[in-house]
Amino acid sequence: QTAEKGGFPHFMLKEIHEQPRALADTLRGRLTESDRVFIPELDGFTKEQLAGFTHIHIVACGTAYHAGMVAKRFFENLLRRPVEVSVASEFRYADPLVSPQTLCFIISQSGETADTLAALREAKRLGATIVSVVNVVGSSIARESHACVYTQAGPEICVASTKAYVTQLMVLYLIGLHLAAVEERLTDEAHADFVRDLVALPDAVESVIGNALLVEDLAAQLADRSVFFYLGRGYDFAVALEAALKLKEISYLHAEAYAAGELKHGPLALIEPGVIVVCLATQPAVFEKMLSNIKEVAARGGTVVGVVYEGEHRLDSSTDHLLRIPQVRPELAPIVSIVPMQLLAYLIAKQRGCEIDMPRNLAKSVTVE
Ligand code: G6P
Repeated sequence: QTAEKGGFPHFMLKEIHEQPRALADTLRGRLTESDRVFIPELDGFTKEQLAGFTHIHIVACGTAYHAGMVAKRFFENLLRRPVEVSVASEFRYADPLVSPQTLCFIISQSGETADTLAALREAKRLGATIVSVVNVVGSSIARESHACVYTQAGPEICVASTKAYVTQLMVLYLIGLHLAAVEERLTDEAHADFVRDLVALPDAVESVIGNALLVEDLAAQLADRSVFFYLGRGYDFAVALEAALKLKEISYLHAEAYAAGELKHGPLALIEPGVIVVCLATQPAVFEKMLSNIKEVAARGGTVVGVVYEGEHRLDSSTDHLLRIPQVRPELAPIVSIVPMQLLAYLIAKQRGCEIDMPRNLAKSVTVE
C-alpha cells in the first residue's frame, strides 16, 4: 500500500507532489518550437467554425466547476465574448440557452459524472458543439464529445481532486490561447510571452511544494479551529471556492468562500476572534480592495492568513500569517495559489486524524444522480 503511494502516507500528498510533472505532461505536444499553442484535438474545426460561435458555455461539477470559473474569466478577457459557466445539475434542468452557435466545454476528471454526462447530452441535443476536458481516457464524456482535450494528470485516486484540477486549468489556458490565435487576438510576441509563462508553471508549483514545511507549521496552529472563510476577488475568488472545498472534503471543517466584496453583505457578521479568514491577494488590479477587506476582518479579531507573491510586503502588518507563492502572470495565479491551499487542507486534516483519501459520504466519481 505504501509502495502504491510512492512512499507517501496518502494518495493526496502523492498527487500534490505529482503536479509539476502532470502540468509538464499536459503541455507536451501542444506547443510548437516557435512558442505557439497548437492543440491537435481542435484541428478538426475550421477557423470559421471556431470564430463563429456566438456563445461559450462551460459545464461541470465540483472541482471541475471551479476550473470552469477560472476559464470563464480567462476566455472573456481574452476573447471578448460572453462565457457562461454552470454546474451540470442546474444546467440540465434549466432549459438552457444553447443553440448550434454555442461552443460547450464539458470538464470532468472521471468523464463519468452522471449530471455532467446528462448535461453534455442535453447540450448536444440542442445543437451545441461539445469540447470536453477529461482525464480518464475513453470515458463516456470523452467518447460522446465532438472533441476531447485530455488532461495528462494520470490516475487520480484521492477523492479530493488536486492534480486533475491544475491540469484542467492548464488545458483551459491552452484552449483559450488556441482560440485567441485563431481569432488573431494576440500579437505573435504576446502569444509567445504567454506560452513561456505557461512553461514556467511546473517550476513555480514545485517551489511551493518545496516550502511545505511552512504550511505544516501553520496547519499545526490552525487545526483546532472550527470556522474558516476564504476570500478573494476575480481569479482569487474561484481559487477561494476550490480552497474551501478542499478543506471541507477532507477535514470536515466548516469552510466557506466568498467574493471578498460580499464580506459586508453577510459574512462580516460572523467574524470574531477564533475565526480563520484566508485572504488570497494575487490580483494587482484589486489588491488595494483586498487590503481593505483584510483590515475589516482584522479589526473584528479574525485571524488572517494572506496568500501573496514573494516580495509582496504590503500585507505584512495586517495579517497574522502569510503564505507566499512565486510571482506569475496574474491570470495564471490559480494554478500556483491553489497548491498551498491543498497542502493546508491536507495538513490540517492530517493533524485532526482524518482519513483523507476516502472522506466519509463522498465518492471519487458520482455516477448516479
Ligand atoms: C466528485 C469528486 C470531486 C469532483 C466531482 C466532479 O464530487 O469527489 O472531486 O470534482 O465529483 O467529478 P468529475 O470526475 O466530473 O470531475
